[in-house]
Amino acid sequence: MIEMKPLVIGDLTVEKPIIQGGMGVGISLHRLAGAVAKAGGMGIISSAQIGFQEPDFTTNFVEANVRAIHREMKLAREIAPEGAIGFNIMVATKHYDVWVKEAIKAGTDCIISGAGLPVSLPEYASQAYKEMEQDKMPIPARRVKLAPIVSTAKSASVICRMWDRKYHMAPDFVVVEGPLAGGHLGFSLEQLTEYGADTDNVPATYHQDAYDREVREIIQVVKKYEEKFEKHIPVVTAGGIYTHEDVLHQFALGAEGVQVATRFVTTWECDAAQAYKDAYIKAKKEDIVITKSPVGMPGRAILNPFLRRIKEGDRPQIKSCFQCLEHCDIRTIPYCITMALVYAARGETDNALLFCGSNAYRAEKMESVEEVMRDLMGQ
Ligand SMILES: Cc1cc2nc3c(=O)[nH]c(=O)nc-3n(C[C@H](O)[C@H](O)[C@H](O)COP(=O)(O)O)c2cc1C
Repeated sequence: MIEMKPLVIGDLTVEKPIIQGGMGVGISLHRLAGAVAKAGGMGIISSAQIGFQEPDFTTNFVEANVRAIHREMKLAREIAPEGAIGFNIMVATKHYDVWVKEAIKAGTDCIISGAGLPVSLPEYASQAYKEMEQDKMPIPARRVKLAPIVSTAKSASVICRMWDRKYHMAPDFVVVEGPLAGGHLGFSLEQLTEYGADTDNVPATYHQDAYDREVREIIQVVKKYEEKFEKHIPVVTAGGIYTHEDVLHQFALGAEGVQVATRFVTTWECDAAQAYKDAYIKAKKEDIVITKSPVGMPGRAILNPFLRRIKEGDRPQIKSCFQCLEHCDIRTIPYCITMALVYAARGETDNALLFCGSNAYRAEKMESVEEVMRDLMGQ
């Protein structure tokens, strides 16, 4: 019998061991994160172009995003004053250091960072505290918890070794994102093919056992650093977790928490436009495809009119460049990912990139966050 124990990350206890995965652009903001935190899980706000609703977003996106980071955290805390609320911040975004520091100044409980390895995350976190000291801002007794997102034992090993060498520290927890996840994936197309996760027939073709082996290996890597630093480092797994049985499977592998994203999109509280949620409810299994995003990584999305046009060679005009990603070249990209995701957030779904996990087709109706939490907990 597997027990659903609280997720304990140092001095931070999350009553229900469920983290809602960060979803950009504008899919997981204060409403969803606040509702998950209120229901006893950990709510995660995505910092990706978080200021897209600000009037000066197109002319001054850095300031617009900074303002929105503080606003979204404040509003989420109003929903769940005692809850655990964090930020997901993608390494691949330009001004990564700014988002990290502002999230800490806004009082985030944790930062979960993927889409690249967050090599400098600890450095930016300590800079944030120094700046807070200088500015005489109150420093919370509970320090921010830092978590890299990894997909392979190799990447887990690299990031742990780097933090050890550079900062003499280990992650506070580690998020392991598997091949069934949504959004950008930490796998090459070849790796996805090996796992049987590159087709439009996932999860039928998915080699669960093969990735379970990888998860076990990652847990072993983390254990070495637990011993070295004499601190407990929980491993939280993500990707395709949709039911209580899925959660139990992850716990049996050794996970102490799960990160779930897709299942939360079709909740009333999710910050996405209703048209986005409806696209999940309407999607069939074969509509969920792997596409190469302008970031250069494979991503999972719904095959909608926009993606069909892109596949046929259409190149929508890029009117202005936000310079928002480290590795994005306006001369070679098929479309601007920020605009494609902003259209999604606004509900203009036919012109948008609709990121989703491989299980999005399973959504049949709208639910409340409380219902999803209870279902995942097996209550
Ligand atoms: C719509 C959508 C947007 C996402 N955006 C981000 C993001 O901005 N940053 C990130 O690290 N992960 C992102 N993800 C990945 C999730 O945080 C999560 O780890 C993953 O989707 C878990 O798999 P699941 O969706 O099958 O539950 C996104 C996922 C979805 C479905």
